[in-house]
Amino acid sequence: MTVPIAIIGAGIAGLAAANTLHKAGHAVHLFDKSRGSGGRMSSKRCDVGVLDLGAQYFTARDRRFVDEVQQWQAKGWAIEWEPHLYHYKNGQLTPSPDEQTRWVGKPRMSAITRGLLGHLPVSFSCQITDLIHGEKHWHLLDAEGDEHGPFSHVIIATPAPQATSLLASAPKLASTAAGVKMEPAWAVALAFESPLDTPMEGCFVQGSPLDWLARNRSKPGRDSQPDTWVLHATSAWSKQNLDLPKEAVIEQLHGAFAELMHFPTPAPIFSLAHRWLYARPAAAHEWGALADADLGLYACGDWCLSGRVEGAWLSGQEAARRLIEHLA
Ligand code: FAD
Ligand code: NAI
Repeated sequence: MTVPIAIIGAGIAGLAAANTLHKAGHAVHLFDKSRGSGGRMSSKRCDVGVLDLGAQYFTARDRRFVDEVQQWQAKGWAIEWEPHLYHYKNGQLTPSPDEQTRWVGKPRMSAITRGLLGHLPVSFSCQITDLIHGEKHWHLLDAEGDEHGPFSHVIIATPAPQATSLLASAPKLASTAAGVKMEPAWAVALAFESPLDTPMEGCFVQGSPLDWLARNRSKPGRDSQPDTWVLHATSAWSKQNLDLPKEAVIEQLHGAFAELMHFPTPAPIFSLAHRWLYARPAAAHEWGALADADLGLYACGDWCLSGRVEGAWLSGQEAARRLIEHLA
């Protein structure tokens, strides 16, 4: 019997690791506490359509990731997004076009992780709470008290704070993960009955509770939706207002949006707020991935490199590469 490799976390890092291992002929099994894949790259289905509330777009700078994104494009999972970009600074809203290529999932961000998941075995709604290392193999315990295994190796592909306790059997890795601070981000979506009278489709914001906003339907494949805007608060504002009720978060960020637009925006026909507790690492690192190869335990995620989609994908690949290298 082939003993599979367990991967905890079906975000882009976990799926990059899973695909690399699968292509190299290894059996894998993914676990995620959510009901679907994608993590911070997922999309939320709601009354006004499917909205990208986490990662808004991604750039590709490393040659390996550029090649991968080209494959996603060829498969129809990813497409270039060319928004009318603005910049808000010192109270001024100014067009801010540039030459950067920006990618989005098509027809929603989660299309990419869905595509990568394909038919790989996965257990959703399964929060792993403990790892047990027997004589030869690993077993995983979930929050319901059920045991999963045996597994030959374990790759933990969760945000650092969630990885720390799972890394208890490798104290060095656990202390590295424990030292990573991750910052929160509030996201709000507002849908308007009549499209707002502005050509703006994305905006980098300074000097406001907001740091980014985007017109969701300006992304390819989303044009049947009402005019829905996704607003992201800065880390500082999100930290200060971590426990604010959702209605108050919507009200305050709607206010910041109206102030920035320099015209009173109408009452939205739909609104929602989502709190990302571990949105981004406070600093970038150059670890690639963490490994205790003798124990067969690995950790990866955006926090091992840059807090971006590209960093997460590269980190997942790196964890898989080190595992394969150790087996060779
Ligand atoms: P995650 O996507 O967090 O995946 C980890 C997975 O592990 C999750 O699915 C989670 O449910 C699961 N999990 C956690 N604990 C357990 C457990 N105990 N048991 C089982 N499963 C568990 N990046 C960009 O490049 N461009 C952007 O525009 C951008 N904007 C962003 C905006 C916001 C608001 C946020 C939050 C992030 C943004 N990012 C952006 C960052 C990007 O989304 C992340 O860097 C990337 O998606 C992280 O991927 P990951 O696989 O490392 O982690
Ligand atoms: P990028 O190159 O488009 O942006 C990087 C940064 O450069 C931007 O944050 C912005 O400050 C500046 N910038 C880029 N183009 C600009 C323009 N035309 N006008 C004015 N300023 C411009 O993308 P990259 O490097 O891939 O970064 C990804 C994005 O993801 C960043 O915007 C980052 O802030 C965001 N992110 C947000 C998180 C959150 O929790 N809200 C978490 C992780 C990433």
